[in-house]
Formats: sequence, C-alpha cells, structure tokens
Amino acid sequence: MFWSKPKKKQETAAVRVDERLQHIAFIMDGNGRWAKKRGMPREYGHTHGAATFKKIGRYCEKIGLKYMTVYAFSTENWKRPQKEVDAIMKLFDDYIEECFQEMEEDNVHFRFIGNLTAFPETTQSKMERIDRETAHKPFLLNIAVNYGGREEIAHACNALIREGKREVSETDIGRHLYTLECPDPDLIVRTGGDYRVSNFLLWQSAYAEYYFTPTLWPDYSPRDVDEAVAAFYGRKRRFGGL
Ligand code: FPP
Repeated sequence: MFWSKPKKKQETAAVRVDERLQHIAFIMDGNGRWAKKRGMPREYGHTHGAATFKKIGRYCEKIGLKYMTVYAFSTENWKRPQKEVDAIMKLFDDYIEECFQEMEEDNVHFRFIGNLTAFPETTQSKMERIDRETAHKPFLLNIAVNYGGREEIAHACNALIREGKREVSETDIGRHLYTLECPDPDLIVRTGGDYRVSNFLLWQSAYAEYYFTPTLWPDYSPRDVDEAVAAFYGRKRRFGGL
C-alpha cells in the first residue's frame, strides 16, 4: 500500500502537534533545480518530488496534524514546456490511480482543490469519487492542482453572483473557496529558497505564519518538518490583537 505502509521503514514522529497547529500548507519548490544539480531533466526532479510529497504526508499525519495542503500545480504552471507539464500530469494520473485503488486502507481524506474543469472528465470524476469516499477519514489532505488564489476568489465571487447576492460578506466568500470547511493554514512552508507567495491560498493565508527554507523539495525530510514546527511554536500569534 502506498500511503500507510511505505516500502521504506516508517519515520518515527519526533514531535507532536496540538490544537495550535492543525494545518500546514506546503509550497513544494525546487524540483527543477534539484534535478539540474544532478545533470538530469526537470521531470526527474518532479518524480522525486512526488515521492517526497508522500513521505511528508505520512509524517504530517503521524505527528497529529489534522490538515495538510500541498501546492502541486498552479494555474500559471501550464506555461512550462509541454514535456514538463505532461510529466507532472502523468504523476497526477498515477497518483489518482493509486488513491483510487487503495483509498479504503488509509486514514486520509483526499481532496483535490483548484479549477478541476481543466482536467479530463474521467479524471474529474475519479477525483470527486476519491474525495467523497474518503470524506469520513480523520486527516484531510488538500492537493492543489490547477490552483490559483486569485482564480479561487474570482470563482467564489461568480458563485455568489449566481446566487443573486448584491453584497457579500467574508463568510459568503469563505463558503465558496475550494478549501471549503477546512480551517485556514496555521503554517505555510515554502522550500527552495525563494520568499514568495506565488498565488497560493491568498484568502486563507491572512493570519498564517510563513516558514521559508533553502532546502529543495525532493530533499525535504521529516526532520525539516520538525524544524518548521519548532519555529512555529516559537512565534507569538496575535491575530491582530495584543
Ligand atoms: C515547483 O518546483 C514544483 C512544481 C511546479 C510541481 C510540484 C509537483 C510535485 C512535487 C509532484 C506532485 C505529485 C503529486 C502526485 C501530487 P519547480 O519545478 O518550480 O522547481 P525549480 O524552482 O527548482 O525550477
């Protein structure tokens, strides 16, 4: 089984989170540079990035997180060379197939978020079925594909226009975000050394703590998660208060 019984020995949880840290979101950056350093094509980095994603997902569940979100493909990533886009799409297809075959055995509620209409209908219906059939599981994993924070807000506004609203509240917009009932991220980790938000969870990140690391995503490890968690607990969150 690909999620709860990895081929390699399971990583021991070195930390345990509490109710202050329920949701971590990851900007998984650095796959291309990781491959380049090895004289390999960028697609090689994405393949290793996908393996890292599974490893980090298992670990986040183990340390007691309730929600995890990963930025797997942005609305802007279609601009990349076709060969690279095709390779990433193949990784998604394989992953969806794995989820589909093995979803009953894991503790994971898999949810694909973003503008899913860009995907073939068969893929969309598999994504929806996986989401529906794992909805009772305790660990929610949001996989953002064809996701853009601005697109998501525009999508929510259009849904409200269709409802006939003439004035909207923050709650109204929240009802139509792709993340739905998932609470906002407490911590957003970006790997790869850049200090950018890159159109990720623009609405939901209003009070998130950010953590940036130079580690390239394929090298990212459970020990790096421990470091980010420790940094989070070292911060004082005031949510605009004192
Ligand atoms: C950013 O690194 C990474 C992406 C655009 C793709 C991320 C995709 C994966 C990690 C695979 C996910 C797979 C599944 C199954 C969800 P980059 O290519 O921009 O790296 P660079 O900054 O070094 O060029």
